[in-house]
Amino acid sequence: MSISKAASSKLTSQNTIEKRLQIQRLQEPTLIVSPSAGSDVVKGLTQTPKSLPPRYFYDDHGSELFEQICELSEYYVTRTETAILQQCAGEIALITDHCELVELGSGSSTKTRILLDAYNELSYPLRYLPIDVSAGMLESSARQLLADYPSLQVHALAGTYELALAELKPAKLPNRMICFIGSSLGNMNSQECDVFFSQITDALEIGEYVLLGVDLQKPKHLLEAAYNDSQGVTAAFNLNMLEHLNRQFEGNFDTTQFEHWAFYNETKNQIEMHLRSLRSQTIQLRTLNLTVHFEAGETILTEISRKFDLNSIQQALKAKSLVPQKVWTDPNQWFGLLLCQLQASTAV
Ligand code: AVJ
Repeated sequence: MSISKAASSKLTSQNTIEKRLQIQRLQEPTLIVSPSAGSDVVKGLTQTPKSLPPRYFYDDHGSELFEQICELSEYYVTRTETAILQQCAGEIALITDHCELVELGSGSSTKTRILLDAYNELSYPLRYLPIDVSAGMLESSARQLLADYPSLQVHALAGTYELALAELKPAKLPNRMICFIGSSLGNMNSQECDVFFSQITDALEIGEYVLLGVDLQKPKHLLEAAYNDSQGVTAAFNLNMLEHLNRQFEGNFDTTQFEHWAFYNETKNQIEMHLRSLRSQTIQLRTLNLTVHFEAGETILTEISRKFDLNSIQQALKAKSLVPQKVWTDPNQWFGLLLCQLQASTAV
């Protein structure tokens, strides 16, 4: 009776969740047969100075640690951007009208809900294409969203931005908006940024939108506190990259023999996050056939996190025909949210 009714309605909604969910894997997580899998790791660790691509932070455990970072009192980034989104989501929906949301690095999709709510209010059908390298995170957040938004359709893409952008299909709704929020753009140097903007413009049609969240320049002590939190979550997040490599490539990094090191480089306007070797040591990554030696004190650069200037970033976007339509910030001007539209190139 009431129990079986509840059980059956739960079943029905689970059913419709399956119907509204599609997960496409763009790359097997342990594609050892692929010659290119891990080539970026080999490249980074055989170069001087050593570096690793930040996407290796985000295995399922690293994605959970990142969620914890977002809750830290020192990490102003997430709550500041969330507050801006809450202010302007309605306006964004009005400007872009009917559109599919494509999100790069969707993670838990927490901030995306603010946008989905805004489009929901205009009673637009909702189509969401989250893209993330953590397949576990992608699936669990998609299921949560589908349970909470009965009219939502989700087409999730598990893989890198590059692969996913190349795979994007034309919109089923009148428009698309690629959301790249959370200031992940900060992980790219200006040359990588250029390549990335071209991948975006190639993926979009004229008239479609990009929503970009960027962390802005601010006093050094605030920035350094945000990347050296008192609970050591950021340190754990940084060190987890080595655990991830151990799991994925049968490595033997000993994380007790490395330490977290982050500081603000005022010349380059970027946080630099490193792992520092505490002693002279040699490690192996078996499936990559790689042996790496570290001197005591030697570091691996795991992440840059650039802090932007609102005028310069707008110029850079315009130069790529991504024309800012509206820019929002918080009262401290700590974070910026830019809504850009792809316009026909004016270059001759
Ligand atoms: C997700 C790249 C925006 O740079 O602030 C947080 C990642 N690293 N704490 C950032 C991060 C250390 C974060 N992004």
